[in-house]
Amino acid sequence: MEISEKIKELHKKNEEAEQGGGKLRLAKQIEVGKLTCRDRIALLLDEHSFSEVDKFVTHHCSDFGMEKNKILSDGAVTGYGTIDGRLVFIFSQDFTVFGGSLSRTNANKICKIMDLALENGAPLIGLNDSGGARIQEGVESLGGYADIFYRNTRASGVIPQISAVLGPCAGGAVYSPAITDFIFMVQKTGYMFVTGPDVVKTVTHENVDKDQLGGSLVHASKSGVAHFSCQDERTTLLLIRELLRFLPSNNLEDPPHHATADDIHRLDKNLNSLIPLNSKTPYDMKDLIHTVVDDKFFLEVCALYAPNIIIGFGHMGGRSVGIVANQPNHLAGCLDIHASIKAARFVRFCDAFNIPIITFVDVPGFLPGLDQEHGGIIKHGAKLLYAFAEATVPKFTVITRKAYGGAYDVMNSKHIGADLNLAYPTAEIAVMGPDGAVNIIFKDELSKSKDPQQRKEELTQNYREKFATPYQAASLGYIDEIIEPQYTRERLIKALNIFKNKRKKNPSKKHGNIPL
Ligand code: HXC
Repeated sequence: MEISEKIKELHKKNEEAEQGGGKLRLAKQIEVGKLTCRDRIALLLDEHSFSEVDKFVTHHCSDFGMEKNKILSDGAVTGYGTIDGRLVFIFSQDFTVFGGSLSRTNANKICKIMDLALENGAPLIGLNDSGGARIQEGVESLGGYADIFYRNTRASGVIPQISAVLGPCAGGAVYSPAITDFIFMVQKTGYMFVTGPDVVKTVTHENVDKDQLGGSLVHASKSGVAHFSCQDERTTLLLIRELLRFLPSNNLEDPPHHATADDIHRLDKNLNSLIPLNSKTPYDMKDLIHTVVDDKFFLEVCALYAPNIIIGFGHMGGRSVGIVANQPNHLAGCLDIHASIKAARFVRFCDAFNIPIITFVDVPGFLPGLDQEHGGIIKHGAKLLYAFAEATVPKFTVITRKAYGGAYDVMNSKHIGADLNLAYPTAEIAVMGPDGAVNIIFKDELSKSKDPQQRKEELTQNYREKFATPYQAASLGYIDEIIEPQYTRERLIKALNIFKNKRKKNPSKKHGNIPL
């Protein structure tokens, strides 16, 4: 064979592999509003940066006539490339090949990429679009899944792992994304469930469609499984690129520095009047967050789930920070089960990847009630306490208004290792709010009073003046400084510089026992 013919043969094979399940199935993929697995990679990565591996791999199944139906790449395109010039490893499932189902062979391809990502300290991105285990292969496919789960777990906390759910993701297939750090789900075509609508109907007699059961919005707002719900695939892929701007490539690196034209000394006079004097009046904590971060750009994570707590990333003076903040606009910013779990996982992510944590506090306490107690608020609230306490990255706290009860301790207090604790003059730091406190400590006096209402108002006012302030905490050194709100950005950036070389280690152990 002439050399030119050999090259032609290579081109032909490349073309064949790039056709996946064939023109008809590719057309159907596009018809239902999805991108092809290769177009997704092209959109996500820097132009021409993708190197594909294992393009000519085929499955080795010989049951159900499969030996006559081998498709190059076998339903998963794998390789590496760059995002903003930084190395990432990627797999993209091809729904046009046996529904993107997981075979022994394409599981091996994915595992190879995962091993390379771990060895080279670079993020792993999985683009999921799959009918689950390849039914024709039986337990071989299940083994393939378990091999992936095992690698996801070993890579956890070493490299960032990101999953996009762009099509079906059913059965055990959901557990690889679930172990990864962030799940992006596209609306309308992406869904995740352990068992589909038919099984649900048989077992529980509930009639639900795929979207109601495990669509993008359901997982972003109700279950908390998805971190981002995006309108279309393009937005999803661009948002993954955006997220990576805040993350280091691995746990031994610091996040990349992003130069900014935003003045590190920028003041915002409006902040001085953001916090309403009446402590029962809500306000939007996001106004404060947007004001302090570089270019007012805040990437919120889990925006639709447990909105009483806000989590997300920003840059400050070019440095990545993870922000955790109570949201007085929702449930008065109290901590409940969902909020505790949401914030705890985020704090642990930031700590694992050397991202300093800034906590804005306005919390009346834990949400009381039967639902919360029976749902295990003790155990779940403890997750957040544990996560903050174990985090060794630089940790800063700004108490804007309420910091009451156990929630004061939990929300990155000095006592659990915060490096700098600031408070606004409007801060109220005490065991409980004035109303509750007066009801308890003056119960006797109030029951005997001729005008209990009038007396209660006096006592409440006294309590408020004495304890609902930051000054008792400041006198004890629990608050390092009381600042004028307009200086928040400048003060926090200064702290990021001061504490940038912080070296702190937890005692040596196999691992702790977080209350799961
Ligand atoms: C092999 C599969 C497949 C699978 C789909 N296909 N799923 N082939 N194994 N798991 C094939 C179909 O035969 C079809 O082939 C093509 O992919 C497209 O599938 P359609 O059904 O035509 O597409 P659509 O109508 O969009 O429905 C998509 C779907 C459905 C909802 C995902 O295909 C489906 O329900 N598949 C089975 C899902 C499932 O039960 N998987 C096993 C889960 S258990 P042709 O040749 O016609 O194009 C599991 C255990 C893992 O995953 C446990 C690990 C711990």
